[in-house]
Amino acid sequence: MDGNGRWAERRHRPRSLGHRAGAKAVRVCMEFCIKHGIASLTLFAFSSENWNRPAEEVGALMKLFLHMLDSEVEELHRRGVRITFIGERKDFSEVIRNKMQRAELLTRDNRQLNMNIAAGYGGRADITQATKSIVADIASGNLHPDDIDEVLLGSRMSLADQAAPDLFIRTGGDLRISNFLLWQLAYTEMWFTETLWPDLDEITLQQAMDDFASRERRFGLTSAQVKPGDAAA
Ligand code: FPP
Repeated sequence: MDGNGRWAERRHRPRSLGHRAGAKAVRVCMEFCIKHGIASLTLFAFSSENWNRPAEEVGALMKLFLHMLDSEVEELHRRGVRITFIGERKDFSEVIRNKMQRAELLTRDNRQLNMNIAAGYGGRADITQATKSIVADIASGNLHPDDIDEVLLGSRMSLADQAAPDLFIRTGGDLRISNFLLWQLAYTEMWFTETLWPDLDEITLQQAMDDFASRERRFGLTSAQVKPGDAAA
């Protein structure tokens, strides 16, 4: 969800205002996913590196998270959204941690949309914690090193209960992943837009969907293998 800061700076307003405007775009995105029957939406709300931003900005973001946990969760629940938080929680305040847990418990049986919120999240940390959990099982004798394969490692990663993302959308014009779901994005289609996150609208999301629909996903195979009908024609 990149571009909140620039959105505010262009209006000569504090960056925190951009984050507040960004929170509105979360709803646009959620509505779009429900309308189009998308199963999972993962939002990168706050990276493990974002803790190093100026204290004032981090404080404003924490206030906003708290506000959203208070004001949005009931509505998301009503809409059938299952909320899951991924990332390191211990750095968040106890009140935020409790509200995260409450939101997850309240919505855990919902099936309309999985809304995953990456907060305090880093893709490298995700791979590291998965590795640690496997090493702990080996050390306790519950696992043999020969048992380690991609399926096992993947099963210890965040969002292992959900399909790998089909489409990655980055707003704000930068062309990088910035430590998002590094393991999970192996065969995800990438889509980048100059649109700043607070300006995200249905038209832009539809452009991303249309572009995605035109892609040929080969997963390492040849075009003839994934479209045998075309090759014969
Ligand atoms: C990146 O833009 C955005 C963030 C660090 C925060 C995103 C958080 C929200 C939109 C609010 C809450 C959302 C949820 C789901 C709880 P940036 O500040 O890096 O923008 P810039 O690149 O223009 O500086």
